[in-house]
Amino acid sequence: MVNLILEECMKKGLLLDKEVFGMLSGLGEDVALEVVGILDGVGVRVVTRKIFDEHPDKFGKYFGKVEVVKSGDVKLLSDIKFKSGKVEVGDFVRHFRARYEAIREIFISNFDTASQHKNLQAGNLSSIRRIGVNSGVYSIIAMVTSKRITKNKNLLLEVEDLTGNSIVLVNKENRVLFEEARNLMLDDIVVFRVSGSSDMLFANEIIFPDAKLESERFGDADEYVAFSGDFHVGSKNFLESSALKFIDWLNGEVGDERQKAIARKVKYLFLAGDCVDGIGNHPGQERFLNIKSCRGQYRKLEEILRKIRSDVQIVMCAGQHDAVWVGEPQRTVSDKWAPGLHRMENVRLVTNPSMVDVDGFKILMYHGASINRFIDEMSDIRTSVGHGNPTRVVKEMLKRRHIAPTHGLMDYVPCEEKDGLVIGDVPDIVVTGDQHRAEVDSYNNILLVAGSCWQSITPFEEKIGNIPDPCKVPLFNLKTREVKIIDFSEDAVKWEEGDDLVCDLRRGENV
Ligand SMILES: [Fe+2]
Repeated sequence: MVNLILEECMKKGLLLDKEVFGMLSGLGEDVALEVVGILDGVGVRVVTRKIFDEHPDKFGKYFGKVEVVKSGDVKLLSDIKFKSGKVEVGDFVRHFRARYEAIREIFISNFDTASQHKNLQAGNLSSIRRIGVNSGVYSIIAMVTSKRITKNKNLLLEVEDLTGNSIVLVNKENRVLFEEARNLMLDDIVVFRVSGSSDMLFANEIIFPDAKLESERFGDADEYVAFSGDFHVGSKNFLESSALKFIDWLNGEVGDERQKAIARKVKYLFLAGDCVDGIGNHPGQERFLNIKSCRGQYRKLEEILRKIRSDVQIVMCAGQHDAVWVGEPQRTVSDKWAPGLHRMENVRLVTNPSMVDVDGFKILMYHGASINRFIDEMSDIRTSVGHGNPTRVVKEMLKRRHIAPTHGLMDYVPCEEKDGLVIGDVPDIVVTGDQHRAEVDSYNNILLVAGSCWQSITPFEEKIGNIPDPCKVPLFNLKTREVKIIDFSEDAVKWEEGDDLVCDLRRGENV
């Protein structure tokens, strides 16, 4: 049969790529020849899968191809200017100054609009230098530079703004405020409402910049965004067959009519980093790799992503395992390592983090290296949720309008002009990866999505007690805000716990 297909193609002057040849070989002989006949009428010479995607009316019935609906563009909103050349001490000073000014702007805009701070307006703010020797009541925007418990068990904070520094005492008797202050991280920038003088200030209230939308956004298009990443291609633990099940489903090749109806509406796929396992991420990693070159891992990733129908727009950032310097913000993966991904028309490589517009939704994508740092630093999170609740950490980032506030806790790089880790505009959706467990939550009308992974538990995860929950894909409908988490970890596709919408992955056979 294979020869027959090739002979027929040669007669008609058609050149098939490897993928198309595989697809035709999977059909019966008569059907394959019928498809070749139709291809002849399309007027192309080199046949790639894209031809099938572009003509669903002609080829949909052969490959289970879904109807192509044109979707809006992906627009990159963030504009991180990376510094070229050597980073010097002055760059770090500029970095912190830029951060302070950006968060100050956020406070001032909050005070202009937020009803909860009626008694606090930009005009009431004081700089530390203007606090005199006479006792008074002040509001200052300041960065926390040190934090310690005194002999009397009160909390003593050293704080500074662009004009000077001071000491703020938080009394242990004010339990709510004390707890809030205990969870302040070094380098957090907050408003302190204080009383006292330049010798010593006493905290009355702590206000975070916070992020809030007045209402949830609903889009016009009845389309879904799928959130994934952390494939770890190249790792021996990469769950390739499960990842391919997901792609089969995305392409409408498996599932019942209800499931295909949803699959055909998936127009965007966000991949939040760690799509490859990388090389040399930790000592001894080589023992756990089955692809031991960077380019080889990205070639394999490309092969996998090319199986996805071409009308799905894929937005991908780097993570800690990618071939990019680990300091954040991270650049895009370069074409030196992943030339094939750069050539894919439906793949958009973006920085980590990035803010992207999809149908009017601002989507902040961040891989999530700082999540573990928050867990280590904040006793509240560590004791209540441990590693089990990545979106809980994202709430802390939004509250601070910063992705990784504390200097020294993780690698970062100062950029030109701005601190690239400040959360400037309030996003509609925040998507993260890194923790390998899917989760969906919301915060002040902002949807929070944590991606799962396609890698079984690694020795490192076992050691730190981070138990992954692989092969889950959160989906979000832009028009209805419906959220589903699909589970590809078993033979059947499961929608969510307790849902009866389950289909068998064997083609065409439904449970
Ligand atoms: Fe990962």
